[in-house]
Amino acid sequence: MKELFGELADGTKVHRWSLENGGTRLKVLSYGGIVQSLELPDGRGGHTNVSLGFDTVEAYETSSPYFGAIIGRYGNRIAKGRFSLDGEDHVLPVNDGGHNLHGGPEGFDRRIWDVEGFTSGSDVGLVLRRTSPDGEMGYPGTLTVRVTYTLTARGDWRIDYEATTDRATVVNLTNHVYWNLAGENGGSVHDHVLTVAASRYTPVDAGLVPTGELAGVAGTPFDFRTPKTLGADLRREDPQLLYAQGIDHNMVLDKGLTERPEHIAQLREPVSGRTLSIATTEPGVQLYTGNFLDGTLVGTGGLAYGRGDAVCLETQHFPDSPNRPEFPSTLLRPGGTYRSTTVHSFNM
Ligand code: BGC
Repeated sequence: MKELFGELADGTKVHRWSLENGGTRLKVLSYGGIVQSLELPDGRGGHTNVSLGFDTVEAYETSSPYFGAIIGRYGNRIAKGRFSLDGEDHVLPVNDGGHNLHGGPEGFDRRIWDVEGFTSGSDVGLVLRRTSPDGEMGYPGTLTVRVTYTLTARGDWRIDYEATTDRATVVNLTNHVYWNLAGENGGSVHDHVLTVAASRYTPVDAGLVPTGELAGVAGTPFDFRTPKTLGADLRREDPQLLYAQGIDHNMVLDKGLTERPEHIAQLREPVSGRTLSIATTEPGVQLYTGNFLDGTLVGTGGLAYGRGDAVCLETQHFPDSPNRPEFPSTLLRPGGTYRSTTVHSFNM
């Protein structure tokens, strides 16, 4: 189902698509490809929205910290908004303490996408398309992007990303859903239990840019190799936690970059028993504990979101890879196709 959701400040219409399959309900905006809500059965005949969001286009346009949005062209930070490719220097606008974050101030999260619904066998879904012109937000190459959201018969939400370019460029696409499996107005997620198959992570400097080191998680707050509550180590005295006011770090997935999505993480909310499992082709995941939610944004449930009221698990290549030849490459050349898949499965 497609309906008018609202208008941007310049009068552009924003539509909302609603789909349902296998018990999962998804509401998606043509603005930013934003997942406005993701609802799961509550076991009592109703549904619970487990992703943070807003009621109005205006709130998304003026104050969203990327709630549910497609992130591009480059998820997370590129140091000082600079990189060079084939001997050419590229300068990107900076929008985060002197760095380029999530594609810049007018990233894919703030663009209108062409949306088309589909059904295929027992799947239902949406195809979102956008052509990002050469030089948009400083990035070289015309980037033709297709993002497919699929709801499967068992209620999984799968995202397939594809992109091609007409000039060498860098690409790192992700989605920025903020999860709270107790419900989007369920308060702190510090009791959620997380497991991540990552023995290493990328420590950052005070600007949250990786130092280049791949550090072991053993003995650090970043060790989620066995199930641990999100809150367990968050207040430990560790300079990495102080930089980020919590966890806001790229986990180096043990499986590395893979052809097919492989299981990497599980998030469980103990009271409802609801579980989210994530599989991806990507070599990394940004674990972000909602540190910068400060009680000033009121969500779809009518309550303000405070620090730690959600967790993001953004599958990705590592931040600042264009300046780190030792990291898995984010380079895309003409003739090649960027592909990335992430599957979210729910146990409800
Ligand atoms: C970044 C955070 C940022 C958040 C929302 C995350 O992916 O790593 O530093 O604050 O997105 O803006």
